[in-house]
Amino acid sequence: MDAGFFVPVRIVGGENCVKKGAQHFAPFGRSALIVCGKSAAQNGALADVKSALAANGQSAVVYDAIPQNPTLACVYEGARVARENRVDFVVAIGGGSPMDAAKAIAVLACQDAPEGLFAHAIGNAVLPMIHIPTTAGTGSEVTPYAIITNDEQKTKQSISSPALFPRIAFLDGKYMASLPQEVTVNTALDAVSHAVEGMLSVRAGGMSDLFAKQALSLLLGEYENLLAGSYTPASRQNLLYGATLAGMVIANTGTTPVHGMGYSLTYFHGVPHGRANGLLLPNFLKECERIWPGSTRKVFDALGMDLQTFAQKVKALLGRRKKLPEEELRDFAARAAKNKNVRNCRVPFTEADLYTVLKRSVG
Ligand SMILES: [Fe+2]
Repeated sequence: MDAGFFVPVRIVGGENCVKKGAQHFAPFGRSALIVCGKSAAQNGALADVKSALAANGQSAVVYDAIPQNPTLACVYEGARVARENRVDFVVAIGGGSPMDAAKAIAVLACQDAPEGLFAHAIGNAVLPMIHIPTTAGTGSEVTPYAIITNDEQKTKQSISSPALFPRIAFLDGKYMASLPQEVTVNTALDAVSHAVEGMLSVRAGGMSDLFAKQALSLLLGEYENLLAGSYTPASRQNLLYGATLAGMVIANTGTTPVHGMGYSLTYFHGVPHGRANGLLLPNFLKECERIWPGSTRKVFDALGMDLQTFAQKVKALLGRRKKLPEEELRDFAARAAKNKNVRNCRVPFTEADLYTVLKRSVG
């Protein structure tokens, strides 16, 4: 089994790590572009970053116009702001949307992409990035991917390059103290999906499986708290570490059909990304086992439960689900079948198999 593994990101973790670790910002230059959503001002992360930069005599420009599911327009605008202010580095604060947008901005601030961002071969000239997650899910702080909405293709699409790894990730669960319950659950399901999908990737190896197991142990260790919606600072930190570990998994393995199908639920119905994955994951595993008996054994060993128990637990977190019409399920299966995530799975999925998962999950 291949044991290759690469994540070139310095992790600085623990309570108040941004302010305590201000010296980590110093080597990156005189001025920063802070990329965030509106919530960064409320959860304290923006103030902590400003104070850390000020302690080093560094200046900052804030670009906080990142919507849920970042668009090409917002990343080009962010890059314009970066160029106009001649910033030296980028600090991303937020959930997946600001963290992914920041990566595209860091590219476009240094590189013209006349062929369009999605067709662009990303070179090494990218502004250095420091990521501060304020949700525990996406893992973007340790991945070389950015997921941006592609309105031309009517989906979310990833750009990928080793140059998109942030240099540093600050992990402080205190920024999640007032995160809404729905966001906490959805993002945790995204992280669980990353760990599980990573184990079923054609690129899974001994090392990535090790990280996936530890991620699942931390995330599912918080299951009762997720269900009850009550969190201690320690449980927030566990969820964050679990999500980051799961991010390290997909940094090496990529994702599989669950993400491929989930993008349609998000693009066409606004289903939050992690919820979309949670809706599909149990039936994806069931279909894996039907297509290739034994293929999911290591996943359920890591989860410490069988499929039925896992499906019940996920269902309890998701609550009521919307049913989609037949023609949409067929369309989404056809779209997913063209997605590279499907070919990234050890278990070969046909369009009919993808339809089965969609039908059982949201049909
Ligand atoms: Fe994801």
